[in-house]
Amino acid sequence: MDINKLPTIPAGPVGYLRRPAHTPVDQPAPNPLCALFGIRYPIVQAGMIWCSGWRLAAAVSSAGGLGLIGAGSMYPEVLREHIRKCKAATDRPFGVNIPLLYADLDKHVGIVLEEEVPIVFTSAGNPALLTPRLKAAGRTVVHVVSSVKFARKAQEAGVDAVVAEGFEAGGHNGREETTTLVLVPLVRDAVQVPVIAAGGIADGRTVLACMGLGADGVQVGSRFVCSAESSAHPAFKEAVTRVEEGGTMLTLKELAPVRLMRNAFFQEVQAAYARGAGVDELKQVLGRARAKRGMFEGDLDQGELEIGQVSAAIRNVLPAERIVQGLVDEFHTAAARIGLNGRSLMAPWQHPGPDQRLPK
Ligand SMILES: Cc1cc2nc3c(=O)[nH]c(=O)nc-3n(C[C@H](O)[C@H](O)[C@H](O)COP(=O)(O)O)c2cc1C
Repeated sequence: MDINKLPTIPAGPVGYLRRPAHTPVDQPAPNPLCALFGIRYPIVQAGMIWCSGWRLAAAVSSAGGLGLIGAGSMYPEVLREHIRKCKAATDRPFGVNIPLLYADLDKHVGIVLEEEVPIVFTSAGNPALLTPRLKAAGRTVVHVVSSVKFARKAQEAGVDAVVAEGFEAGGHNGREETTTLVLVPLVRDAVQVPVIAAGGIADGRTVLACMGLGADGVQVGSRFVCSAESSAHPAFKEAVTRVEEGGTMLTLKELAPVRLMRNAFFQEVQAAYARGAGVDELKQVLGRARAKRGMFEGDLDQGELEIGQVSAAIRNVLPAERIVQGLVDEFHTAAARIGLNGRSLMAPWQHPGPDQRLPK
């Protein structure tokens, strides 16, 4: 498939991504991410293998955030089905997360272009690999970074925004171990494009803190694993609500660093390190389809259970809409507590879609 020959989204105002020519005086200036994506709140639900299918993405987008379908673990035609179901379930913008490390990468890109998905988040690789092709096809492109060096590279590659993801985050992670608190201000100062903070955010206080560090919005992963609409196995969701502080650890740096819950499989990995295992032996211990076995099939002993440090603060499973609204409400409460008016940062933005026109 030659993805350069696939349909492009025409330049200029189209569909729900239309932006206002000017902001009316009685409307606060839109948050840059709300304007970029055409969403109400600058809250992105992270793409997460085995957890974020169309149900979760549609629920978050319908609630005013940006829902992402996680393409990583999907067969290409399954991805197509998820995109079509998501389109049918919501009239709000949504996107697809494409990690750059999977074998079906080219097919995933082809489907995202064919199905005219307007927003693509890439991760786990070189931003120069896909950004120029996606931008040439008129897509909004965001890349996930865990260091200033890669934030600069992403900006040079032409992305519209970056996600600055700290060491606390669930799933695959940076080797440098830079925390969100340190990374976000460094990235903010290094690039001109909007910055989305990720890693350790599960309530409104942490959203406010990230805005204070210079982020324009947030990407939230672990909290949405424990949503009613996430496709994670119910046993995995339940296990997340019982994780205690210190219950996760970054490991497998020699393969692809990943933060995992400390279950029996994790102990096997630790034992392998203790006997001085090399890359080949670690690969053998990891085996195949461990993440599916743990997160999707609910094998809490032998599966790979990816989750962030903030799982220690997640104590229930809620509908995605309540999670989004909770983040917004708690943000305002936390802002008021320290004497701030959080309205201009988190003012709901009405995107000028067919049924939601900006006030004249
Ligand atoms: C279960 C799980 C699966 C993940 N899978 C992906 C993925 O497929 N692609 C990706 O870019 N990031 C992935 N991540 C990272 C998230 O996109 C996000 O950046 C991270 O979860 C944010 O940190 P938090 O978990 O503290 O909210 C995953 C995270 C989790 C918890």
